[in-house]
Amino acid sequence: MQHNQDGKRELFNTRAGFILAAVGSAVGLGNMWRFPYVAAEGGGAAFVFLYIILTLAIGIPLMLSEFSVGRGAGLSPIGALRKLGGGGWSLLGFMYVITGFIILAYYSVIAGWVVRYAIDGILSGFPANPGEQFGIVTTGMSPIWYHLAIMGTTILIVSMGVQKGIERAALVLMPVLFSILILLAIWAFTLDGAMEGYAVYLKPDLSELLDPYILSQAAGQAFYSLSLGMGCMLTFSSYLSKDSNLGGEATTIAFSDFGVAFTAGLVVFPVIYALGIQGDVSESTVGALFIALPGAFVAMGDIGRIVGVLFFVALIVGAVTSAVSLLEVVAASVIDEFKLPRKPASIAAGVLIALLGLLPASSIDLLGVIDKLAEAMLALGAFFMAIFVGWVAVGAADEMRQGASERSKRMVPLVMTAVRFILPPVILFATTYAFIAVVREYQGAFGG
Ligand code: PFF
Repeated sequence: MQHNQDGKRELFNTRAGFILAAVGSAVGLGNMWRFPYVAAEGGGAAFVFLYIILTLAIGIPLMLSEFSVGRGAGLSPIGALRKLGGGGWSLLGFMYVITGFIILAYYSVIAGWVVRYAIDGILSGFPANPGEQFGIVTTGMSPIWYHLAIMGTTILIVSMGVQKGIERAALVLMPVLFSILILLAIWAFTLDGAMEGYAVYLKPDLSELLDPYILSQAAGQAFYSLSLGMGCMLTFSSYLSKDSNLGGEATTIAFSDFGVAFTAGLVVFPVIYALGIQGDVSESTVGALFIALPGAFVAMGDIGRIVGVLFFVALIVGAVTSAVSLLEVVAASVIDEFKLPRKPASIAAGVLIALLGLLPASSIDLLGVIDKLAEAMLALGAFFMAIFVGWVAVGAADEMRQGASERSKRMVPLVMTAVRFILPPVILFATTYAFIAVVREYQGAFGG
């Protein structure tokens, strides 16, 4: 088993293990449920185009920033920020832990719906009336039981530790997800409406690129999808040895995450256009995909049933590996701050989150508001991370160079310039919009 220099901290065993665990964190509901619907809402191709630019220009530097703090300090967020920035900065670590708490509480509820869809798909096929079925899946006791099942699985994996739990789960599960998704994209290519779907997805309307709302949505989605802004990548990198090339890893992870989101779009858009159900999706509520896609699967007969089950299985895989990373942030903080062993720490954190999740499990309107709130908190967390690494933490650039290839080393000044001068204003702008979106969602849901 690998440990750090003083032999105290468990490290990832292999480079592939770390990368797949980080990609497992990044790839999840955000890529396959959220990306297609936010992209549809944001004008399809214009959004995708902006999203790529933001992933490169903001996502990678920010991920590298989190890595430099996490590996530099060898601690989870609260301790790491305190160590590198002084006591006041540990408050940011607390905010990260709270964000993880809130996100996992509703993320697990959605993951639970997905499990129910997959099981129903296997046992009895997809429903003839998907709108009604969505109502059944999301109300009453059903969402609560499935949410608890997801939380139980997540707690189990996290309590087994970095190598035996997180790394092993990622090494097995992520290749399954990639394989299913590629199969689905090939199948979607053969559909009648495929070309029309691709056109909407991939042909940008340039006027939309200048829309500040779309820009902020794309930024928010980038943080969400890359698991940035709540110390998740920071925590994972605290289990990395000093010889890993942080810049190279960040680039690989960001591209893999984009690849999966993009491929999910290549599945979803043709399906939507093959059946002419674009109206349902662009309503873009949290339920859009859960209603539109099963409707499409049912219309496609037996093959639709197989494809649908595969789609939901891939979603479960993505959701569980992301849920694991969310719980890891909270659990690792409890372990580091209270010097508690891993098992009780992950169980205690997981049970509290499961309890909080009973609220969004009981109200889909509340869940919609929390989803927007999550995005806003990630944006805020990302803003402070950029300030911290750009202006406060000493030695961040040196940590980025440590273990880096020559090429990555040459990129460090560019990355630091971006972190100091470009990230803060752009992210602050996105944060402001994201909080406005929370208020709007709240008013839409509760008429306040
Ligand atoms: N990146 C995950 C997804 O796209 O589904 C969600 C997520 C995981 C966000 C971990 C934040 C995080 F720290």
